[in-house]
Amino acid sequence: MSSLNFKGYSVPRLISIVVFACLISVTVLYYWTSTPNNCAAPLPDLKRYWDNYFGRNDGRNDGRNDGRNGSSISDDKPILLLWIWPENYRFELSDCKKIYNIDGCHLTDDRSLTSSADAVLIFHKAISWDLSNLPPSPRPKFQSWIWFHVESPTNTKKIPGLENLFNLTLSYRRDADITVRLNLIAKSKPNEEFVIPKKDKLVCWIVSNNAASTGVGTRNQFYREFSKYIEVHMFGKAYARFLDYNDYYPTMASCKFYLSFENSIHKDYITEKVNGPLSAGTVPVVLGPPRKNYEIFVPAESFIHVNDFPDAKSLAEYLLRLDKDDEAYGKFFTWRKHLTPIPHLIQQTQEFILPICTACDYISRHREYREFHDLYEWYFN
Ligand SMILES: *[C@@H]1O[C@H](CO)[C@@H](O)[C@H](O)[C@H]1NC(C)=O
Ligand SMILES: *[C@@H]1O[C@H](CO)[C@@H](O)[C@H](O)[C@H]1NC(C)=O
Repeated sequence: MSSLNFKGYSVPRLISIVVFACLISVTVLYYWTSTPNNCAAPLPDLKRYWDNYFGRNDGRNDGRNDGRNGSSISDDKPILLLWIWPENYRFELSDCKKIYNIDGCHLTDDRSLTSSADAVLIFHKAISWDLSNLPPSPRPKFQSWIWFHVESPTNTKKIPGLENLFNLTLSYRRDADITVRLNLIAKSKPNEEFVIPKKDKLVCWIVSNNAASTGVGTRNQFYREFSKYIEVHMFGKAYARFLDYNDYYPTMASCKFYLSFENSIHKDYITEKVNGPLSAGTVPVVLGPPRKNYEIFVPAESFIHVNDFPDAKSLAEYLLRLDKDDEAYGKFFTWRKHLTPIPHLIQQTQEFILPICTACDYISRHREYREFHDLYEWYFN
């Protein structure tokens, strides 16, 4: 008498078939992903981590859409106009949804929407010296202009006339309106022991940029001294040993230590050079702002700071000692019980996807009136 059936199968029967099929796929997936080999640490389920990152860990997709008709949802999203493609690195605008599950704005590069855009994202490096390529002024009252810049002050041109032009700032800085960072994610419950990937190199360094103008003097000087006492495996454009992006995480994982040397030293300027080794299961040796600044973002025991040592020689000696002491080396990974790093996108053309999607997420949640004054005063001091 039950009407609960489908093509001759009763519902309980159907459920058991589905459950059984799921069990099989989960088992297959488990063995497939946990095959012991010397590859990089397996990449986690990125979508789940991004949901955590953007605070969507409560099972909601996007509260804004609740109770609305499907067709009317998009009309209600704020428009974010990408004024200029940064470095001309184009990507599919749907990637924000696909990669980060961000869907709260209507992201576009269509300038015919200039007068209706709620926010305009303006890439600092692309602004011309005479400001002639900015969007038309005056802007509509409801429109925010976002200063989009992810370089350190050393690598920032002071284009005159921008001081009091923007409403919001987008930067790696914690005190920006829209902060773009690769944060570690707290696990919902402490996890089983982390397995350190197999290592066949002690110290590695990938260097793509070595232009003196970018402020790399400090790190090069340290490296010259350091490499007298310990072998450093070098990779990257600057050393004619170009690393394919597919090899980035596996190579990183095969080194015990990685030189996370920032090109210039500034507050909060702690980049993917730290996130890479942490994600791969490698210990970063950092050169950048003081240790205290790093400890705001990553656990104190997860990295080695060059300033912890009086000179390059004693740092090299310490790493050589750790090479023979697995127990001491393992202590650098105890934080993995509670925290998970998010592997960042590594292709050069993907560099601006996270900042742009983060801006989209921000404007979908914030509509306040705001003016930003003395841009350079804030950025350089
Ligand atoms: C949803 O659609 C129905 C019929 O298409 C309409 O009557 C109703 O007003 C709509 N609701 C909203 C919130 O737009
Ligand atoms: C942005 O700032 C400009 C002036 O600097 C102002 O006219 C505009 O209304 C502001 N927009 C918002 C949304 O705060």
